Amino acid sequence: MNAVTILRTAARAISDNFEVVRVEANLGAEIRGLDLTGAITPELADLIRSLLWEHQVLFFRDTGIDDSKQAEIGRIFGPPVADSILKRRGVKDEDIIPFNSGPYSNSYYGTPWHADATYLETPYQVSILRSVIAPELGGDTAFSSGISAYESLSQDIKDKIDGLSAIHRPTGKAYGMIEDKADLDDYLAEYSGVAHPVVITHPFNGKKILYVNEGFTKEIVGLPEPESKELLTFLTRQFYRPENIARFKWKPGSLAIWDNRSVQHYGVADYGKVPRQLVRIVAAGDRPSR
Ligand code: SIN
Repeated sequence: MNAVTILRTAARAISDNFEVVRVEANLGAEIRGLDLTGAITPELADLIRSLLWEHQVLFFRDTGIDDSKQAEIGRIFGPPVADSILKRRGVKDEDIIPFNSGPYSNSYYGTPWHADATYLETPYQVSILRSVIAPELGGDTAFSSGISAYESLSQDIKDKIDGLSAIHRPTGKAYGMIEDKADLDDYLAEYSGVAHPVVITHPFNGKKILYVNEGFTKEIVGLPEPESKELLTFLTRQFYRPENIARFKWKPGSLAIWDNRSVQHYGVADYGKVPRQLVRIVAAGDRPSR
């Protein structure tokens, strides 16, 4: 029996209505017929993990789950981690703080393409967002695959970047979220830059992933600045290509689980002053490696 057959057999044992509807050719699947409100059994956890390593981002509709069930789903992948800025304000790893996004709210209104927290030595393995309040129109989140971005590069470029590392820093995020100058300086000194390989290998499916992002990757180690800038611009631009993107329209109760190693995301800022509330849970990861 191959892996897909094993997966389907396991899924049918969990739910008769189980269905995987692929969203785009290179990433994304909507998972139907799985009840997430009940017990997260080891079998269900195995199924969700293997679906995620296969499809990179999973979408669920009308989940009916609450914060604590979302946290339980997060623990399938690892312990929770609090955002590095919120941690300084006393937020604990286990705390769940819904964020209202939008131009006049307490959180982001649109974000550049990024994977979460790549400025940490051990960025999250998985991130999970659930919609509580969704705009009627707009406010989607787009996801882009570092696996297909890497695969679509020419062999020359692959050879050029395979041994390189890049520095990741949370500079833009810090300027956007920390008003107090002393606090800002202190934060930027604490998170002063972490090097990760430009191409990493997925810990569970062995695929190569292009691992630089517009939000946090600032320079390529060992290259003169103009060359580093030009290469980073070229590489991060791969994530804008529609071939690598799946876009998700939120409705209250929708859930997106993404592999924060292999996909980046982008919050689309096109919903004006309309309320939008999401709950985020993330699961700790290891240090990315070649
Ligand atoms: C984020 O960038 O982490 C939030 C995504 C969103 O608001 O859609």
